[in-house]
Amino acid sequence: MSPASRLPPETRRKIRLGVNIDHVATLRNARGGFAPDPLRAAQAALKAGADGITAHLREDRRHINDEDMRRLKHSIDAPLNFEMAATEQMLDIALRIMPHACCLVPEKRTERTTEGGLDVVGGEKYLIPFVNELLRAKIRVSLFIEPSFEALAAAKAIRAPVVELHTGAWCHALEIGETEKAGAEFSKLRAAAAEAARLGLECHAGHGLDFKTARTIAALPELVELNIGHFLIGEAIFIGLDASVRQMIEAIAEGAGA
Ligand code: PXP
Repeated sequence: MSPASRLPPETRRKIRLGVNIDHVATLRNARGGFAPDPLRAAQAALKAGADGITAHLREDRRHINDEDMRRLKHSIDAPLNFEMAATEQMLDIALRIMPHACCLVPEKRTERTTEGGLDVVGGEKYLIPFVNELLRAKIRVSLFIEPSFEALAAAKAIRAPVVELHTGAWCHALEIGETEKAGAEFSKLRAAAAEAARLGLECHAGHGLDFKTARTIAALPELVELNIGHFLIGEAIFIGLDASVRQMIEAIAEGAGA
Protein backbone atom coordinates (compact mmCIF):
# COMPACT_ATOMS: atom_id res chain seq x y z
CA MET A 1 0.00 0.00 0.00
CA SER A 2 1.39 3.44 -0.92
CA PRO A 3 1.81 6.14 1.77
CA ALA A 4 -1.07 8.14 0.23
CA SER A 5 -3.52 5.25 0.27
CA ARG A 6 -2.68 4.58 3.95
CA LEU A 7 -4.02 8.03 4.88
CA PRO A 8 -7.60 8.18 6.17
CA PRO A 9 -9.92 9.35 3.33
CA GLU A 10 -10.74 12.68 4.99
CA THR A 11 -7.07 13.80 4.97
CA ARG A 12 -6.49 12.93 1.29
CA ARG A 13 -6.78 15.70 -1.26
CA LYS A 14 -7.78 14.87 -4.79
CA ILE A 15 -5.86 16.58 -7.59
CA ARG A 16 -7.32 15.93 -11.03
CA LEU A 17 -5.09 14.55 -13.76
CA GLY A 18 -5.67 15.70 -17.34
CA VAL A 19 -3.75 13.52 -19.79
CA ASN A 20 -2.46 15.37 -22.83
CA ILE A 21 -2.55 13.05 -25.85
CA ASP A 22 -0.89 15.40 -28.40
CA HIS A 23 2.16 13.20 -28.83
CA VAL A 24 0.15 10.15 -29.80
CA ALA A 25 -0.88 12.28 -32.77
CA THR A 26 2.75 13.35 -33.28
CA LEU A 27 3.67 9.68 -33.72
CA ARG A 28 0.72 9.03 -36.03
CA ASN A 29 1.60 12.02 -38.18
CA ALA A 30 5.22 10.87 -38.51
CA ARG A 31 3.92 8.19 -40.90
CA GLY A 32 0.61 9.66 -42.02
CA GLY A 33 -2.38 7.36 -41.77
CA PHE A 34 -4.40 6.57 -38.67
CA ALA A 35 -2.23 4.78 -36.11
CA PRO A 36 -1.65 5.24 -33.26
CA ASP A 37 -5.09 6.76 -32.71
CA PRO A 38 -5.22 9.62 -30.14
CA LEU A 39 -8.84 8.74 -29.35
CA ARG A 40 -7.82 5.21 -28.39
CA ALA A 41 -5.09 6.68 -26.17
CA ALA A 42 -7.64 9.00 -24.55
CA GLN A 43 -9.96 6.07 -23.85
CA ALA A 44 -7.08 4.04 -22.37
CA ALA A 45 -5.98 6.97 -20.17
CA LEU A 46 -9.52 7.41 -18.85
CA LYS A 47 -9.84 3.67 -18.19
CA ALA A 48 -6.62 3.91 -16.16
CA GLY A 49 -8.21 6.63 -14.02
CA ALA A 50 -7.38 9.97 -15.67
CA ASP A 51 -9.96 12.65 -14.88
CA GLY A 52 -9.91 14.35 -18.25
CA ILE A 53 -8.21 14.66 -21.62
CA THR A 54 -6.23 17.61 -22.90
CA ALA A 55 -5.40 18.25 -26.55
CA HIS A 56 -3.77 21.23 -28.25
CA LEU A 57 -5.03 22.12 -31.71
CA ARG A 58 -2.14 24.15 -33.11
CA GLU A 59 -2.40 26.55 -36.00
CA ASP A 60 0.00 24.34 -38.01
CA ARG A 61 -1.87 21.11 -37.00
CA ARG A 62 1.48 19.45 -36.32
CA HIS A 63 -0.12 16.85 -34.03
CA ILE A 64 -3.83 17.04 -33.14
CA ASN A 65 -6.10 17.89 -36.08
CA ASP A 66 -9.66 19.19 -36.32
CA GLU A 67 -11.11 15.72 -36.80
CA ASP A 68 -9.30 14.49 -33.64
CA MET A 69 -10.95 17.27 -31.63
CA ARG A 70 -14.36 16.41 -33.02
CA ARG A 71 -13.94 12.69 -32.34
CA LEU A 72 -12.62 13.34 -28.82
CA LYS A 73 -15.58 15.55 -27.97
CA HIS A 74 -18.10 13.03 -29.28
CA SER A 75 -16.53 9.83 -28.06
CA ILE A 76 -15.13 10.41 -24.59
CA ASP A 77 -17.25 10.54 -21.50
CA ALA A 78 -15.01 12.93 -19.52
CA PRO A 79 -14.03 16.59 -19.53
CA LEU A 80 -12.15 17.67 -22.65
CA ASN A 81 -9.67 20.52 -22.22
CA PHE A 82 -9.03 22.23 -25.57
CA GLU A 83 -5.69 24.05 -25.60
CA MET A 84 -5.69 26.85 -28.14
CA ALA A 85 -4.09 30.11 -29.17
CA ALA A 86 -6.28 33.20 -28.83
CA THR A 87 -7.15 33.55 -32.51
CA GLU A 88 -10.47 34.02 -34.29
CA GLN A 89 -10.08 30.70 -36.10
CA MET A 90 -9.53 28.75 -32.87
CA LEU A 91 -12.38 30.56 -31.14
CA ASP A 92 -14.75 29.53 -33.97
CA ILE A 93 -13.61 25.92 -33.71
CA ALA A 94 -13.94 25.88 -29.92
CA LEU A 95 -17.46 27.28 -30.12
CA ARG A 96 -18.37 24.54 -32.61
CA ILE A 97 -16.74 21.71 -30.61
CA MET A 98 -17.95 23.02 -27.22
CA PRO A 99 -15.35 21.32 -25.01
CA HIS A 100 -15.67 21.35 -21.24
CA ALA A 101 -12.73 23.77 -21.00
CA CYS A 102 -10.39 25.90 -23.08
CA CYS A 103 -6.86 26.73 -22.00
CA LEU A 104 -5.48 29.78 -23.81
CA VAL A 105 -1.81 29.32 -24.62
CA PRO A 106 0.80 31.30 -26.53
CA GLU A 107 1.84 29.78 -29.83
CA LYS A 108 4.89 30.29 -31.98
CA ARG A 109 5.33 28.44 -35.25
CA THR A 110 9.00 27.73 -34.65
CA GLU A 111 8.77 26.46 -31.07
CA ARG A 112 8.98 22.74 -30.30
CA THR A 113 6.53 23.07 -27.43
CA THR A 114 4.72 25.83 -25.53
CA GLU A 115 7.84 27.56 -24.30
CA GLY A 116 6.45 30.21 -21.99
CA GLY A 117 3.30 31.56 -20.46
CA LEU A 118 0.75 33.72 -22.22
CA ASP A 119 1.55 37.43 -22.54
CA VAL A 120 -1.18 38.41 -20.12
CA VAL A 121 0.53 41.55 -18.79
CA GLY A 122 -0.34 44.18 -21.37
CA GLY A 123 -2.42 41.66 -23.32
CA GLU A 124 -5.59 42.23 -21.31
CA LYS A 125 -7.42 44.20 -24.01
CA TYR A 126 -6.71 41.55 -26.63
CA LEU A 127 -7.58 38.57 -24.41
CA ILE A 128 -10.75 39.78 -22.68
CA PRO A 129 -13.06 39.28 -25.73
CA PHE A 130 -11.85 35.66 -26.15
CA VAL A 131 -12.38 34.88 -22.47
CA ASN A 132 -15.82 36.53 -22.51
CA GLU A 133 -17.01 34.63 -25.61
CA LEU A 134 -15.92 31.29 -24.19
CA LEU A 135 -17.42 31.97 -20.77
CA ARG A 136 -20.65 33.08 -22.40
CA ALA A 137 -20.77 29.68 -24.10
CA LYS A 138 -20.32 28.09 -20.62
CA ILE A 139 -16.85 26.81 -21.44
CA ARG A 140 -14.43 26.97 -18.50
CA VAL A 141 -11.45 29.16 -19.40
CA SER A 142 -7.92 28.90 -18.10
CA LEU A 143 -4.88 31.00 -18.97
CA PHE A 144 -1.50 29.29 -19.21
CA ILE A 145 0.79 31.75 -17.43
CA GLU A 146 4.22 32.16 -15.90
CA PRO A 147 4.22 31.78 -12.12
CA SER A 148 4.47 35.50 -11.37
CA PHE A 149 2.31 37.87 -9.34
CA GLU A 150 2.08 40.24 -12.33
CA ALA A 151 0.68 37.50 -14.56
CA LEU A 152 -1.79 36.48 -11.85
CA ALA A 153 -3.01 40.04 -11.36
CA ALA A 154 -3.51 40.32 -15.14
CA ALA A 155 -5.38 36.98 -15.24
CA LYS A 156 -7.65 38.27 -12.48
CA ALA A 157 -8.25 41.52 -14.42
CA ILE A 158 -9.09 39.48 -17.53
CA ARG A 159 -11.64 37.58 -15.37
CA ALA A 160 -10.48 34.12 -16.30
CA PRO A 161 -11.65 31.82 -13.51
CA VAL A 162 -8.67 29.45 -13.82
CA VAL A 163 -4.92 29.77 -14.30
CA GLU A 164 -2.49 27.03 -15.28
CA LEU A 165 1.02 27.69 -14.00
CA HIS A 166 3.82 26.86 -16.43
CA THR A 167 6.10 24.37 -14.66
CA GLY A 168 8.54 24.04 -17.58
CA ALA A 169 11.36 26.21 -16.23
CA TRP A 170 11.38 24.33 -12.91
CA CYS A 171 11.30 20.88 -14.56
CA HIS A 172 13.99 21.83 -17.07
CA ALA A 173 16.32 23.18 -14.35
CA LEU A 174 15.97 19.88 -12.47
CA GLU A 175 16.57 17.87 -15.64
CA ILE A 176 19.89 19.60 -16.35
CA GLY A 177 21.00 19.52 -12.71
CA GLU A 178 20.71 23.26 -12.00
CA THR A 179 19.50 22.74 -8.46
CA GLU A 180 19.77 26.33 -7.32
CA LYS A 181 17.71 27.58 -10.24
CA ALA A 182 15.26 24.72 -9.72
CA GLY A 183 14.82 25.79 -6.08
CA ALA A 184 14.17 29.38 -7.14
CA GLU A 185 11.68 28.26 -9.81
CA PHE A 186 9.85 26.06 -7.33
CA SER A 187 9.60 28.96 -4.87
CA LYS A 188 7.95 31.00 -7.63
CA LEU A 189 5.44 28.20 -8.25
CA ARG A 190 4.68 27.85 -4.53
CA ALA A 191 4.14 31.61 -4.12
CA ALA A 192 2.08 31.83 -7.33
CA ALA A 193 -0.22 28.97 -6.28
CA ALA A 194 -0.86 30.70 -2.92
CA GLU A 195 -1.47 34.03 -4.65
CA ALA A 196 -3.85 32.43 -7.16
CA ALA A 197 -5.93 31.08 -4.28
CA ARG A 198 -5.85 34.47 -2.54
CA LEU A 199 -7.19 36.07 -5.73
CA GLY A 200 -9.93 33.45 -5.98
CA LEU A 201 -8.45 31.80 -9.10
CA GLU A 202 -8.60 28.03 -9.51
CA CYS A 203 -5.01 26.85 -9.84
CA HIS A 204 -3.74 24.22 -12.29
CA ALA A 205 -0.18 23.44 -13.37
CA GLY A 206 1.62 21.64 -16.13
CA HIS A 207 4.50 21.27 -18.58
CA GLY A 208 7.47 18.95 -18.36
CA LEU A 209 6.18 17.03 -15.33
CA ASP A 210 7.28 13.45 -14.63
CA PHE A 211 6.50 11.09 -11.72
CA LYS A 212 8.94 12.84 -9.39
CA THR A 213 8.06 16.45 -10.18
CA ALA A 214 4.33 15.67 -10.20
CA ARG A 215 4.69 14.15 -6.71
CA THR A 216 6.56 17.25 -5.49
CA ILE A 217 4.21 19.85 -6.94
CA ALA A 218 1.11 17.96 -5.82
CA ALA A 219 2.06 18.93 -2.26
CA LEU A 220 1.10 22.55 -2.99
CA PRO A 221 -2.27 22.78 -1.24
CA GLU A 222 -3.86 25.18 -3.75
CA LEU A 223 -3.45 22.92 -6.79
CA VAL A 224 -6.56 21.24 -8.14
CA GLU A 225 -5.44 19.93 -11.55
CA LEU A 226 -2.28 18.85 -13.35
CA ASN A 227 -2.04 18.47 -17.13
CA ILE A 228 0.64 16.04 -18.23
CA GLY A 229 1.49 14.65 -21.65
CA HIS A 230 4.96 14.13 -23.04
CA PHE A 231 6.40 12.12 -20.16
CA LEU A 232 3.33 9.87 -19.87
CA ILE A 233 3.27 9.04 -23.57
CA GLY A 234 7.04 8.44 -23.58
CA GLU A 235 6.83 6.21 -20.52
CA ALA A 236 4.04 4.26 -22.20
CA ILE A 237 6.61 2.93 -24.68
CA PHE A 238 8.29 1.08 -21.83
CA ILE A 239 5.49 0.19 -19.40
CA GLY A 240 2.27 0.76 -21.37
CA LEU A 241 -0.13 3.69 -21.16
CA ASP A 242 -2.32 2.07 -18.51
CA ALA A 243 0.61 1.62 -16.09
CA SER A 244 2.05 5.02 -16.95
CA VAL A 245 -1.22 6.81 -16.07
CA ARG A 246 -1.84 4.67 -12.97
CA GLN A 247 1.67 5.38 -11.63
CA MET A 248 1.17 9.08 -12.25
CA ILE A 249 -2.14 9.06 -10.35
CA GLU A 250 -0.37 7.30 -7.48
CA ALA A 251 2.52 9.80 -7.51
CA ILE A 252 0.09 12.73 -7.43
CA ALA A 253 -1.91 11.15 -4.60
CA GLU A 254 1.28 10.59 -2.62
CA GLY A 255 2.33 14.20 -3.11
CA ALA A 256 -1.12 15.53 -2.21
CA GLY A 257 -1.20 13.43 0.90
CA ALA A 258 2.32 14.40 1.97
N1 PXP B 1 -0.31 22.36 -20.14
C1 PXP B 1 -0.18 23.15 -21.24
C2 PXP B 1 -0.93 24.43 -21.26
C3 PXP B 1 0.63 22.75 -22.33
O1 PXP B 1 0.75 23.56 -23.40
C4 PXP B 1 1.27 21.50 -22.29
C5 PXP B 1 2.09 21.04 -23.45
O2 PXP B 1 1.29 20.88 -24.56
C6 PXP B 1 1.08 20.70 -21.14
C7 PXP B 1 0.32 21.17 -20.08
C8 PXP B 1 1.70 19.36 -21.02
O3 PXP B 1 3.09 19.44 -21.06
P1 PXP B 1 3.93 18.12 -21.21
O4 PXP B 1 3.56 17.52 -22.52
O5 PXP B 1 5.35 18.60 -21.16
O6 PXP B 1 3.56 17.23 -20.05
